[in-house]
Amino acid sequence: MQIATSTGDIARSDADVIVVNLFEGVTTPGGATGAVDAALNGAIRRLIELGDVRGKAGELTLIHTHGQLPAPRVLIAGLGKQADFDLDAVRNLSANIVRFLRRPGIGRVATIVHGAGIGGLAPEGAAQAVAEGAVLGSYRFLKHRSSNGDDRSEIATLEVVELDAAAAAAFEPAVRRGEVLGLATNAARDMANEPSNHLTPTMLAERAQAVAAAAPALSIQVLEGADMEAKGMGSMLSVAKGSAQPPKMIRIDYRGRGGEGFDLAIVGKGITFDTGGISIKPAANMEAMKADMTGAATVIAAMQAIAALAPAVDVVAIAPCTENMPGGNATKPGDVVTAMNGTTIEILNTDAEGRLVLADGLCWAVELGARRIVDVATLTGAATTSFGDVCYGIMTNDDALASQLENAAARSGEKTWRLPMFKEYDDYVKSEVADIKNSGNRGAGTIVGAKFLERFVARTPWVHLDIANVDMMDKERGWVSKGASGYSVRTLINLALSLE
Ligand code: BES
Ligand code: MN
Ligand code: ZN
Repeated sequence: MQIATSTGDIARSDADVIVVNLFEGVTTPGGATGAVDAALNGAIRRLIELGDVRGKAGELTLIHTHGQLPAPRVLIAGLGKQADFDLDAVRNLSANIVRFLRRPGIGRVATIVHGAGIGGLAPEGAAQAVAEGAVLGSYRFLKHRSSNGDDRSEIATLEVVELDAAAAAAFEPAVRRGEVLGLATNAARDMANEPSNHLTPTMLAERAQAVAAAAPALSIQVLEGADMEAKGMGSMLSVAKGSAQPPKMIRIDYRGRGGEGFDLAIVGKGITFDTGGISIKPAANMEAMKADMTGAATVIAAMQAIAALAPAVDVVAIAPCTENMPGGNATKPGDVVTAMNGTTIEILNTDAEGRLVLADGLCWAVELGARRIVDVATLTGAATTSFGDVCYGIMTNDDALASQLENAAARSGEKTWRLPMFKEYDDYVKSEVADIKNSGNRGAGTIVGAKFLERFVARTPWVHLDIANVDMMDKERGWVSKGASGYSVRTLINLALSLE
């Protein structure tokens, strides 16, 4: 989908459909909707009188213009109650509109910026949300389905039309920003949706190479098994041992400031398939574990957008990538391994592998001089028990960084909730035979994962995002797509931008 900004009267657009809007309770539409209504001799007012158009949130009404306008169709989007209308609503509405208009004969769509006029929202924020939502809503993962004609049609062009030339000029960079954020999210979705036979650690590293090659501001390094061995990454390697696929530890650098170390490290769990290893998972729903590399996809895709938006910060992404398989050489329960920082780990459950690969990824971030670390991982099934799919848990050793992360999430339309890191939970990872063990047996599964990870960040301000309950969704909803949802990608980007 191409997105363009233009100055003009939307009523004069000859797009296949023009999109206008209506707040609930409005009987005489104003602004662009009023102009379109006038050109249609009051057709919209008549529909309001009849009760067919009410402006309710989610209401989408397609009418035909019968030659009264250059465009053959008008879509009237209900905005709901003005008091409830915010940038999240704009983003979700824009995504829903793009899905609604996915039909034969509709290639060019012209839209006004919802909320920018009488809506009273920050105009540029609203323009960004329109573009972001449109890109996010246009996402589908169809590459493994044989072509079947019409159901693949997609909007080719979205024109954001604004009457005022100065306002239109300000919309241009905002629209581009929304597009960059949306495209990065879709790139992460593409990786997470990919089956594990189409996305091995080697192939994931190739995707990261492609992202880095496309942006001059990025550089990439991929550690092979021998390199990891040399660096003492015994925790990561203990997971890779059971697989025939070679592991990859991906590092992407973005230098926007050119300082020492890094302002931010983002570290993502990259298990391209999690069978559980010797502590093998039950067969039911195991296919969902193809998405256990969502954290890695998230940090790789975030770097794509950070490079495009070019903030004056230095960011490094680290993604430890491997399969977790029960091969003949696999780690066995009771085995003890040593991470890069010298911490010894008793592996009681080989299915708690995410924290094992992240341990060495976090150690590397510390070694590289990260002043802040955020890790993102599909770490625990317990996250679903705690939160369903409404919000995701964050855990931290630093309130200030956690607040910045929370604000970035809020700007992305994502809800987060902090889980406690009381020192009493330290006991939950104490081992009889090593420094720590990789799984607890006293509940609080999501917190235990964080308590384990905390041992590898030294004193660096750090936030852990456990996205295991939101990475895959069973239905689409506003900006959220079915399958890989794209959760946390824009949050990491917005966090990096906020550190400038
Ligand atoms: N990848 C899983 C967590 C997961 C479960 C993600 C369901 C998405 C949906 C993780 O590696 C895992 O298996 N965690 C275990 C940890 C336990 C053994 C301590 C879990 O949550 O059961
Ligand atoms: Mn597991
Ligand atoms: Zn896992």
